[in-house]
Amino acid sequence: MSDVVIDIADARKRYRGGVEALRGVSLQVPKGGIFGLLGPNGAGKSTLVKILMSIVHPNHCAGTMLGAPIGHKPTLAQVGYLPEHARFPEYLRGGEVIRYVAGLSGISRAEACVKTEQLLEMVGMQDWGKQKMGTYSKGMKQRIGLAQALANDPEIVFLDEPTDGVDPKGRLEMRHVLMRMREEGRTVFINSHLLGELEMICDSVAIMDKGEIVQQGTIAQLTEKSRRYELITRGSMSEGLVQRLKEKGFQIRHEMGQDFMIVYESDPEPIQPILDALRGEGVTIVELRELRQSLEELFMESVGAGGVGGSRKGSTPPSLPRKEAIK
Ligand SMILES: Nc1ncnc2c1ncn2[C@@H]1O[C@H](COP(=O)(O)OP(=O)(O)OP(=O)(O)O)[C@@H](O)[C@H]1O
Ligand SMILES: [Mg+2]
Repeated sequence: MSDVVIDIADARKRYRGGVEALRGVSLQVPKGGIFGLLGPNGAGKSTLVKILMSIVHPNHCAGTMLGAPIGHKPTLAQVGYLPEHARFPEYLRGGEVIRYVAGLSGISRAEACVKTEQLLEMVGMQDWGKQKMGTYSKGMKQRIGLAQALANDPEIVFLDEPTDGVDPKGRLEMRHVLMRMREEGRTVFINSHLLGELEMICDSVAIMDKGEIVQQGTIAQLTEKSRRYELITRGSMSEGLVQRLKEKGFQIRHEMGQDFMIVYESDPEPIQPILDALRGEGVTIVELRELRQSLEELFMESVGAGGVGGSRKGSTPPSLPRKEAIK
């Protein structure tokens, strides 16, 4: 199996009525990681997943999933799916929903029962599996939805807005389930608006807008150009040193007895002589840290909504330090 489990080329979909949901989407999903597809409402995320699940028929779509052409139905036996706004029969018990889906994968009834108990426990529903779906809260339904998506031991699981209605504790538990899937070498494909959450767990993302992919890559790759270092110091420095810092591109501001200096560099190496010079003048290095654009800023920049991250140099300090080195 290659390193790419989904390779979509030129997916196009025009719905009856004329809406062009996908305008030539090409996308590669690496094997064995958590992939996030982001985009504003109506961007075409669910349409793309439904094409991969053979629920929606594309006008055009080339490429492969798990090595087979997209649309090859037998391949779906290796795929799990939690649809957007999933609804399961209210009269079924949570455990019955999972057992039913597990049974579809061809395992024996006894095996399906064992699998169901394992999955109920995995999603924190072990005490609720005998209650009917109709009695569950929204978040509990989503937990069962996640469990049934894993019932056939899938190679790839598609989760369309999986944390919809789930409380913070449930989301944390869900993240652990997804990380466990990754550890097992499976691929998780999530559609979500919750950028902070995706940032915490996604290995790679694609940003979609108006039926097109506008960016794709690892979060580190996509935020690389916004990489900068912030240096915080205490103590006065000579005019000559201030001049040297400015020539090297440092933006300096003084606040509450400390100097905050930001420089756009992709590497901390060139900053080392500056640290030496500062120490040479008896200046205290309070902190040196790497900063990058947050996923939210990247998203807003990519879909042109408000230009939060629009200007890079000289913009306000980013909200999310991705790595900190305190000296
Ligand atoms: N069955 C349908 N018939 C007609 N138009 C549709 C249908 N399903 C989706 N659309 C339209 O296609 C576009 C893409 O919809 P889609 O549901 O794929 O977006 P999405 O990115 O998943 O949005 P959301 O974040 O709101 O879930 C929208 O303009 C939507 O109105
Ligand atoms: Mg959707």
